[in-house]
This record gives sequence, structure tokens and C-alpha cells, in this order.
Amino acid sequence: MTLALATPEQLLDPELHATGDPHALWRRMRAERPVHWHEPGALPGFWSLTRYEHVRAVCRDPGTFSSAQGIVLRPESHGQDPGGGRTLALTDPPRHRRLRAVVADWFTSRSTRSLEESMREVVRSVIAKAISEGTCDFVTDVAARLPLYVICRLMGVPAEDRETLFQLAGVAFGTADPVAQSAAHQEIMQYFVELMYRRMEEPADDLVSMLANRTVEGELLSEDDILLNCDNLLVGGTENVRLATSGGMLALLERPDEWQRLAADPALLPRAVEEILRWTSSANVVMRVATAPTAVAGQPIGAGDRLMLWIPSANRDEQVFAEPDRFDPARRPNRHLALGSGEHFCLGSVLARTEMRVLFRELLDMAVRVEQAGPAVPVRSIVVNGLESLPVRIVPR
Ligand code: HEM
Repeated sequence: MTLALATPEQLLDPELHATGDPHALWRRMRAERPVHWHEPGALPGFWSLTRYEHVRAVCRDPGTFSSAQGIVLRPESHGQDPGGGRTLALTDPPRHRRLRAVVADWFTSRSTRSLEESMREVVRSVIAKAISEGTCDFVTDVAARLPLYVICRLMGVPAEDRETLFQLAGVAFGTADPVAQSAAHQEIMQYFVELMYRRMEEPADDLVSMLANRTVEGELLSEDDILLNCDNLLVGGTENVRLATSGGMLALLERPDEWQRLAADPALLPRAVEEILRWTSSANVVMRVATAPTAVAGQPIGAGDRLMLWIPSANRDEQVFAEPDRFDPARRPNRHLALGSGEHFCLGSVLARTEMRVLFRELLDMAVRVEQAGPAVPVRSIVVNGLESLPVRIVPR
């Protein structure tokens, strides 16, 4: 991909994000056209927002900038997003807050703390297995394991079913084959249909039971709404953690001095996790739709206009971050937007931070050496950023 010539239109090309340098383009856009209109083509027209202050302001004004028509840009011919107005990520206040309240208890610091010991056990066994196998894929064999275990546990998936679900999720979210992907996704949904019915009859202390039995605005959620929210939690709970953790591992493999610095001073780890979140910005872009005529940075925006908020760009905004293109595990302050901001701020933020901290902590404490064993393969997507695969050898020292 030609780097210097990238144009804003190429932002819709997954190749730019996988193998090009979108940051060079975003840098120019932040300086010259921070609110840029893209003419409609195969996809509808939209505004690109690349500066931190604008991305943040739009996220924090859900009255003017709605999520209910979807947060992913879709061709007009595909119609409305099926989750629009129904899942947590795709509802506006006031319903959004009521829906979020149904599940919020499972994502507090307190609830997350109670899971920490079991997280450590999972990570230790995953690392031990990786050591015994010699070479492994850090993305699927290490980074993906912990978040899937945690979300399955929160959702009430019995321990004996987790491995099956893990295999299915690996295909559904990891393979480049769309037919296999869709079949695996269907199977996961079928699993949750059965789990939902079981929990309707016999509620337990888990997220699926909550979604199936609690009322929102005086009514039980429909079966479709329960399933869409389960899907949202499963994908939300696994995909970004896997991408951020493996992207962070690659950043550290490329900077052995920073790895040594973390090993020497584990108290740096919480800050390093924030820097990994900023650096990887695995949620690449989220969309909003203007509910009324408005303006961003003096640029008039029409009612119904779509706005694409490029999170990695906001997270490298030179007006907010000193040396934004440097990976600095000790960076402070670091008020990145990798987890969003405002109304839809990531529900799993505490969980995600804890999972990443626990994983890197165990890798450092177990005093293993991680070596890259092959080229990192990037995902090809405009929605998420990160690695499809990262071959490594984890060896005891
Ligand atoms: C590194 C890890 C993660 C990243 C980078 C990430 C990123 C984000 C971002 C940017 C948003 C805001 C979307 C928007 O404004 O439209 C979001 C929302 C959300 N995230 Fe995460 N996330 C991560 C981990 C998790 C985990 C572990 C869960 C657990 C279930 C989760 C569940 C959700 C949910 C349910 C929402 C929607 C919240 C709402 O609309 O109120 N995420 N996430």
C-alpha cells in the first residue's frame, strides 16, 4: 500500500488499516480537515472526525448524536442494524440507562475483584500449556483465553460447555472464511437460545438470567432482545481484549527495554495497560447519527448525517498527548478514548483493564521469555484494529 498518497477515502479500505499507515493520513486530517465529508459510494456519505476534542464531545452528547441506528457504517441496502434500539450499545437515553442498570452490577470493581484469583489460575494454566507446546499463537492460545473464560462465567455458561464455546468463538471471530464464521456464529446463538430458556425456567445468579427475567420500563425483554444483548456481551467481552492484549504484546516484543523496565518495576503495570489501550485502540471507529441540525468545530452537520469517530486518531492527537507516536508504558496523564467516553463508556472497562493487568503480571512473575516466532498477521477490518495471529515461543528462563 502506498503510504504517502493515502486519501481520506481510503479510510474505508481495510488494507490501509492492516498494512498501510492510517496514522500519517489522520495526522494530516487532524491538521487540515478535522471534520471531513465523504461522498456516498457503496456506503452512505459520512463525516470523519479525527481530533480528540471532537470525538470526545460527540460521544458525550448522546441526545444530539444517536447510537440507535447502529454504530457501524452499513450499506443503505442492508437496512437498519438489527440491534438498533435494542442492545446496550445501540440504544439512546433514557432507555439506555435502564437497560445498562440490568447488567451493570456484574461489571463493577467489586465484582471484578472477586474474579481475580480465578483469572490468575486461568492465565497460569494457559501459559503452562503454551510453554509445553513450544510455539503457539499468542492471539488465540493466550490473549483470547482469559476474556472468553471470564465472560462465559459471568453469563452463566457451565464449565463443561466453555471449551466448545471457545472453539466456536475462535471460528466465529477469528477466521477469514465468512461461511465458517457465519455457521459458528449461528451455533453460538443456538447455544444461547437454549441457555436463555433454561434460565427463564430456573434463574441463576448470572447475566443471562438477569436479561431473561428483569424488566426494563415495566416490560420483560423480548427473546430477540435477550439474544442480541448476549451476543453483544460475548463479542464485546472477548474481541477487544484479545486484540488489545496481543497488540500490547507485540509492542513490548518490539521494545525489549520496555519489557525489562516492566519486569524491574511491576508497579508500572497499570500505566502500561493504559498505554497499551491507547496504542492499540482496538475499537477503530464508532458511528453516530445526528438527531438534529448541529455543528462540530463550526462545520454545520445536518439531521440524519452520519459521523465516524476514528478512535486511534483521537488517541494520537498531538494537542492532547505529548509525543503521541511513542509507546511509553509510563505515560501520565493518559486520558485516552480507547474505551469510549460518556453515556456508552465501555461497560467492561474494569474487567478489561484487570484481565490485561493479570495476564501481563503473570507473564512477568513467571519469569518466562516470550520470543516472536513468525510474522504478526493483522486483521483486515475497518471496525477493529489488531492482530489475527502472533506466533510466539514462551520459554522458561
Ligand atoms: C480492551 C478491551 C476493550 C475495548 C478497547 C473496548 C472498547 C469499547 C468502546 C470504545 C466502547 C464504546 C462504544 C461507543 O461509544 O459506541 C465500548 C462499549 C462497550 N463495551 Fe467495551 N471494550 C473493551 C472490553 C470490553 C469488555 C471486557 C466487555 C465485557 C462485556 C465490553 C463490553 C462493552 C459493552 C457492553 C459496551 C456498550 C456499553 C454501552 O453502550 O453502554 N467491552 N467498548
